[in-house]
Amino acid sequence: MDDRNALPISNPQPLYGSSMSDFLVIGSGVAGLSFAIKAAEYGTVTVITKGKLLESNTAWAQGGISAVLPPGLRDPGDTCEKHVADTLDAGAGLCNEEAVRVIIAEGAETIDELVAWGTDFDKDHDDPERYSLGKEGGHSERRILHAKDTTGKEIATSLVETARNHANIALLEDHYAIDLITTGKLGVVTEDRVLGAYVLETQSGEVKVMKSPRVIVATGGCGKTYLYTTNPDSSTGDGLAMCWRAGASIANMEFVQFHPTCFYNPAATGPEARSFLVSEAVRGEGAVLVNEDGHEFVNDHDLRGSLAPRDIVARAIDTEIKRTGAPCVFLDISPLGETFTERFPFIHETLLAFGHNALEKPIPVVPAAHYQCGGVVTDLFGKTTVRGLYAIGEVASTGLHGANRLASNSLLEGNVLARRALTEIMRLYPPGKEVPTAPEIPSWESGNAAPPDELVNIYHAWDELRRTMQDYVSIVRTDNRLRRASYRLRNLHREVKEFYWGYTLTPDILELRNLVATASLIVDSALLRKESRGSHHTLDYPKREARFDQDTVLRKF
Ligand code: FAD
Ligand code: SIN
Repeated sequence: MDDRNALPISNPQPLYGSSMSDFLVIGSGVAGLSFAIKAAEYGTVTVITKGKLLESNTAWAQGGISAVLPPGLRDPGDTCEKHVADTLDAGAGLCNEEAVRVIIAEGAETIDELVAWGTDFDKDHDDPERYSLGKEGGHSERRILHAKDTTGKEIATSLVETARNHANIALLEDHYAIDLITTGKLGVVTEDRVLGAYVLETQSGEVKVMKSPRVIVATGGCGKTYLYTTNPDSSTGDGLAMCWRAGASIANMEFVQFHPTCFYNPAATGPEARSFLVSEAVRGEGAVLVNEDGHEFVNDHDLRGSLAPRDIVARAIDTEIKRTGAPCVFLDISPLGETFTERFPFIHETLLAFGHNALEKPIPVVPAAHYQCGGVVTDLFGKTTVRGLYAIGEVASTGLHGANRLASNSLLEGNVLARRALTEIMRLYPPGKEVPTAPEIPSWESGNAAPPDELVNIYHAWDELRRTMQDYVSIVRTDNRLRRASYRLRNLHREVKEFYWGYTLTPDILELRNLVATASLIVDSALLRKESRGSHHTLDYPKREARFDQDTVLRKF
């Protein structure tokens, strides 16, 4: 971190007057809350989240957070250089090496910060002065800090508590950001900068104008574009779609990461099916993937076997399922024995609740959509191409992940970018610096409530979208299938416009609108990449091509 980090703590009065927040943060995951806690030292912060504070991907994270700790605390063989090499390798030639180096170098600082905010990482059994370090796919060393198998809940809870106790932070649940307000959208042609957001208060149905000269979008990913996903319901690509509509550039959306091991639960089929994640850390501790015959089939694809990077393992499973006609493969945890229940109590208990005892028989698993490797293009300070608009966390594309994210690098990135974004904002807009007066922002005009038959159509459209993505834009793609998906999405887009402009806004209509926009960005990006690399694999262009050693960047105008 350069010396701009050493900013003076200002008097925490509102920097820009009381009618607006100095910082408007959209999203209450690791990225949004890390930013809010730090920004509150400098001014007023409003955090809005569309559901409850603990509804986020962050709260669902299992395996842990990767970091190379200082010598003496890390494993003797580990170095930042090795973490960089593993990340670049997983990213299949598309990472921004500078981003990788910068973010990984701040790993130890991130752990110190989270611990200071109350996160309690597991300690080593034999040496309570040291953290217990786990391993996951693609990592050459043990460097994953964790809190058993509910690391995300531990981090999220400590961040929420810290934020709650800060007088400068207003935490608003059930506040759904509809769209960003920019000068460009209001017809100001001389500059394009962000002014705030239209926000639906879901309990009352009222749409508010929330003003701020700096808006931090930290809305997470878009797993719900697929029928089968590890993600919670909140992951509907809202922030990505909002930034796109506001004119920000979007990169690498074709790289949707599928997690190899979600519990296969045939009892839960249809749109309501849930894919419960069985953490990669289980494989890190020795579990192996096998087929019905007990063969460790991933070894036939990669020397690292079950612990190869995710894109390779997910594809190996997909191939095996298609080869054998079986509905799933199996995760054999017998190498862990009884330690499984001690190290992974949440997973064990949840599986038991689903009627499956992992100690008695291998766990049936399938891949499911897990992580958005691309996103809103930002620099290494979270800055987007729209002035005053910052994007951090899973919604953003810093270049850390390239074509496939290395496990447990995401929580790390969310916290690091929050810190760096604040540093940059305070450099560009230090306390006392005037911000231009905002033009008049029109208030929201609501439509009429949708009639019951239209409500049914909205649910059908949701279902159609997620099935289309699952069937046509999954682990292995073809141009033909992508074009079919594109055609269906265009029809859905037309319908969504009618819902959006015709009726009173509801979270369902808003999420559908954002899902269609996000899915279209995924499909359009996938159609542009005529090669296979990382999480984008197509039968039409099965090889990686040097001429595609570049990001896929989409711009609206
Ligand atoms: P999130 O934590 O997803 O938070 C986004 C927030 O934005 C939510 O509060 C949401 O409600 C809010 N929001 C969204 N749209 C709107 C809107 N329109 N208006 C208002 N609010 C909105 N990564 C790791 O590094 N290690 C792991 O072990 C790990 N395990 C994982 C396990 C699971 C099951 C899943 C799903 C992911 C896992 N990941 C893991 C990935 C990681 O959890 C996420 O990438 C990361 O937490 C994203 O953080 P975030 O702050 O960007 O977004
Ligand atoms: C897991 O625990 O397997 C998820 C880790 C991640 O997505 O980084």
